[in-house]
Amino acid sequence: MASIVTAPIQGQKPGTSGLRKKTREFMAPAFLENFVQSILDAIGGAAGKTLVLGGDGRFFGEEAAQVILKMAAANGAARVIVGQGAWLSTPAASHLIRTRGTDGGIILSASHNPGGPDGDFGVKFNAANGGPAPEVLTDAIYAKTLELTRYLKLEAPDVNLTAIGESHLGEMVVEVVDPVMAYADMIESLFDFKSLRGLFHEGFTMRMDAMCAITGPYAVEIFENRLGAPKGTVTHKTPLPDFGGMHPDPNPTWAHELMAEMIGESGPDFGAASDGDGDRNMIVGRQCYVSPSDSLAVIAANAHLVPGYAAGLKGVARSMPTSAAVDRVAASLGIDYYETPTGWKFFGNLMDAGRVNLCGEESFGTGSDHVREKDGLWAILMWLNIITVRGQGVAEILADHWARFGRNYYSRHDYEALPKDQAEALLRDLVDRLDGLNGQSFQGLTVSGADEFSYSDPVDGSVSAHQGVRILFEGGSRVVLRLSGTGTEGATLRVYLERYVAGPDGLDADPQEALAPIIAATEEITGLKARTGRARPDVIT
Ligand code: G1P
Ligand code: ZN
Repeated sequence: MASIVTAPIQGQKPGTSGLRKKTREFMAPAFLENFVQSILDAIGGAAGKTLVLGGDGRFFGEEAAQVILKMAAANGAARVIVGQGAWLSTPAASHLIRTRGTDGGIILSASHNPGGPDGDFGVKFNAANGGPAPEVLTDAIYAKTLELTRYLKLEAPDVNLTAIGESHLGEMVVEVVDPVMAYADMIESLFDFKSLRGLFHEGFTMRMDAMCAITGPYAVEIFENRLGAPKGTVTHKTPLPDFGGMHPDPNPTWAHELMAEMIGESGPDFGAASDGDGDRNMIVGRQCYVSPSDSLAVIAANAHLVPGYAAGLKGVARSMPTSAAVDRVAASLGIDYYETPTGWKFFGNLMDAGRVNLCGEESFGTGSDHVREKDGLWAILMWLNIITVRGQGVAEILADHWARFGRNYYSRHDYEALPKDQAEALLRDLVDRLDGLNGQSFQGLTVSGADEFSYSDPVDGSVSAHQGVRILFEGGSRVVLRLSGTGTEGATLRVYLERYVAGPDGLDADPQEALAPIIAATEEITGLKARTGRARPDVIT
């Protein structure tokens, strides 16, 4: 074993989803080692512990897994359960951490960010509940990165990760498991696979774009092997180190091949996509895109039709920038609903306390308490199961939903790679002016409230402040502005726009047109375009 003297890595601060960096930064000498040692020190050492390890198949993932195995062994871990080929989707890793009763796990992924030597890489620690490390732990990891003086790594040949089974690395057991089967079995227990098989048997057509990322093998097993969907239902099904050049972010911009297929009148009945590590999802019907906020609301309203949720929902939670569509469903069901800061980790406490079993974010993340991460394939199966029971297509289900609850028109506009100082100053100036906005009118819209969101966790009482600016307008419309915590280049400003229309008229407008007054009012209030010199957002979802 080598105890290697190292200099502190000076403040590598894991964000909402672990530490994300350019791949080359992670590959720099001792960088990965330092960060992993900081994690192991922050959890109180690895001695005697069992950990799960795997990632989304991106470039540098397998090399990183080998380093982490040798470090876990040198730090005295008892066992590491690793997905074959160092593969595990994020929800499958969460499931393994929970069902195997481990002390946590390390996931190698930069989620939906592009991969490859010039792309991004990431390392995330999940706690024993299967969920992302809570803030106290990410703070502790950060503190360790400042004081680290050595890391421990076994000098040993690489472990064979291609064959399933157990081997030893020093004293530590390395258990290589099939990355797919345990997860697929769990999923099968939640849904009505018999009826779903019938649906595909009757000729229902689906296109699932795995975007050359980790969900390919999971989707092939579930949709093609177990549910009998025709071969070819899953496209871009082989995980590739650079995702085949794709940007594995399931939204209309990056999943444009799928969108092009769904737009035609003779396209498949149902379309879906997922991201690099398999926790995000996009749902599309034929000629009908479903916004993630609407998807969450539809799932909430129909969850009782799915066997795993037949007893009804306990409660629901959404991130603050997610539209209020799900709140209306929860109110009509008479269940509690919670508004949390951005990031999945805030849902974990609510799920562990049994307060909610459905959660979602506007950023294409939906999930339940079957794991402690969002789960792309789970959301896709919720839709399929609902479609099967209701005997309706996506467009009909959405139209029915809006007729019943009204429609929360929604869109997110992202301004990427802004100079950090400029983006921070813009938000700071806005925060200073919030009090004065109340009661003022912009483009005919009157501000009925404006604040900076602060969350007090109802379970442990911890407070998370400065979670984004909200400006509410009379009638249930609003704009939210916040800076991304996951970008790797400059600052990304996210502008979340929402307008409520009760119906029965005006429910089928184009979202950007329906939101035009909110967009104009936002410009008048913030001077965003003038200050950034950007005529339009880089990404609209
Ligand atoms: C983004 C999303 C957020 C999600 C996170 C991790 O974070 O907006 O909802 O939880 O990725 O997938 P952001 O870049 O906005 O901080
Ligand atoms: Zn992801």
